[in-house]
Amino acid sequence: MHQRELFFRHVAQTSGAPIGLEIVKAEGCMLYDKENKAYIDLIGGVSVANLGHRHPKVIEAIQEQLQAYLHVMVYGEFVETPQVQYAKYLTDHLPASLNSVYFTNSGAEAVEGAMKLAKRITGRTGIIAFNNSYHGSTQGALSIIGDEYWRNAFRPLLPDISHLEYNSFDSLKEINDQTACVIAETVQAEAGIIVPSKEWIQALREKCTSTGTLLILDEIQSGFGRTGKLWGFEHFDIVPDILLLGKALGGGMPLGAFIADKKRMDVLMENPVLGHITTFGGHPVCCAAGFASMKALLEEKWIDTVQQKEKLFRSSLIHPAIKAVRSFGLWMAIEFDSFETNKKIIDACIRGNVLTDWFLFSPQSLRISPPLIIQDAQIHEACKILIGVLDF
Ligand SMILES: Cc1ncc(COP(=O)(O)O)c(C=O)c1O
Repeated sequence: MHQRELFFRHVAQTSGAPIGLEIVKAEGCMLYDKENKAYIDLIGGVSVANLGHRHPKVIEAIQEQLQAYLHVMVYGEFVETPQVQYAKYLTDHLPASLNSVYFTNSGAEAVEGAMKLAKRITGRTGIIAFNNSYHGSTQGALSIIGDEYWRNAFRPLLPDISHLEYNSFDSLKEINDQTACVIAETVQAEAGIIVPSKEWIQALREKCTSTGTLLILDEIQSGFGRTGKLWGFEHFDIVPDILLLGKALGGGMPLGAFIADKKRMDVLMENPVLGHITTFGGHPVCCAAGFASMKALLEEKWIDTVQQKEKLFRSSLIHPAIKAVRSFGLWMAIEFDSFETNKKIIDACIRGNVLTDWFLFSPQSLRISPPLIIQDAQIHEACKILIGVLDF
């Protein structure tokens, strides 16, 4: 039986229409299928492969850690050098108040941990999230997802949650001294790249501070240079109380984190002791890979190339079928008139060797989130194919 048949038979499916490509190798900005057909990757594993696929430094770090140890003990008990070094490096590149890292296995688990932490710190239960935000599929994260269609089938979910309009000053009135935390994407990803105004996000920060509410920023997609700065919040001159990371954090390996001030994070040590634990969170191989990936991203200065590449995409993607282009760094939503049009274009792009997809809450928009290492020639080629598809 072929791999494809086995995939449909034995690997649990998440939709009736998976992309279904059989990828056998990935390198840099390219993926290769079993016929050795090469694809330009404009998805980047959904903002995971910011440094491209299989960067030599990442592979070397993984191999080195393989020679030392894999899992040795549940999270938080042993001094594991890859965790320690990565936590130190991350916090060296964050504002002083974000100095303690709790590693998890995934983005959703970082969301779960942060919500628990906010409840413990404030002694409050109210949680505010925003319409059209995606924060993960576990039940806590699902409770704050900003779309009733995805929430409804799984009720009852967490109580005491309100969903407000993102980027609306009116929404801020709802934040009060009952609110434990507000959780927001710094830039909304699955809504189709929605950038808030600086005034609004600063007002959100102020309202949280004045009501003793913790501001949790989800940078699981926007982190690690995607927006043209290392962290998305740097564009807005604010600092969250808790920062959520995932995706590119692991350099291609599964890793998430919630990061806060140590004094706050320490509430997780007691009442109850071991009240938030994980077996594999901060796995040494994942931390070694993530650390090497972040170092290479910064040392090779890929973030400095983001703005010029964004401009190149924008200037190459002009066509009457395109209704709107929203971008923030190497992160773009190309909007068409409907999901049906978008899906036809995506399928034609894939046949033409360019990989892209759509956004959960903006299905009429095509996703561009390539590795930041993408070369100008690859951008020209990908845009030529995309525009060519629109002419049919
Ligand atoms: C903004 C955002 N938050 C949280 C998550 C959940 O991360 P994970 O899929 O690793 O659980 C995602 C995943 O797409 C995301 O895009």
